[in-house]
Amino acid sequence: MQQTHNIILIGFMGSGKSAVGRALAGRLRWRHRDTDTEIESEAGCTIADLFLAEGEAAFRHRETATLVRLLSEITYEQTILSTGGGTPLQPENAALLKQMGTVIWLQASLEAIWVRVGPNLASRPLLAAYQDNPQARIESLLTERTPLYAAVADFALDTSIYARPMEAANQILSLLDR
Ligand code: S3P
Repeated sequence: MQQTHNIILIGFMGSGKSAVGRALAGRLRWRHRDTDTEIESEAGCTIADLFLAEGEAAFRHRETATLVRLLSEITYEQTILSTGGGTPLQPENAALLKQMGTVIWLQASLEAIWVRVGPNLASRPLLAAYQDNPQARIESLLTERTPLYAAVADFALDTSIYARPMEAANQILSLLDR
């Protein structure tokens, strides 16, 4: 069987990884997988409940274990993989993602991120604890993470300008010359 090259979406919370991933998979008729969804179904609870029950460090271990499993599962598939906003930050995860396929970094402006995540802060444990000033928290996480996303990415695309996920998906396809 010939090895295929998967498409891996990374980026901050609210950058569109899940929505654009679904659109891309629909367009290419590839399988769509999502690390957060995989972790939730394995744990039998939401990411927010997992953070409460086990803490962030345990979540990060689950994230790496999920990538290790997915690496062998998707090697011979055609898969779009949407990741969590923190997935590429650990060096071992970054290496796994690069082995899986072409890594696309979805970027978004602070304003676009706020519009997308603001209404549902409770589902995002890294922001939920900062109810007093979640926007400042987003800004400082973004500053900290931007160089790490850049180090893993093969391509970057700002999704802030697209009204619909399919528009960003089409732009990714032209970046990849497909
Ligand atoms: C996280 C982002 C979340 C989820 C978890 C941690 C992060 O995924 O994995 O809450 O560290 O940025 P989304 O980017 O899909 O919200």
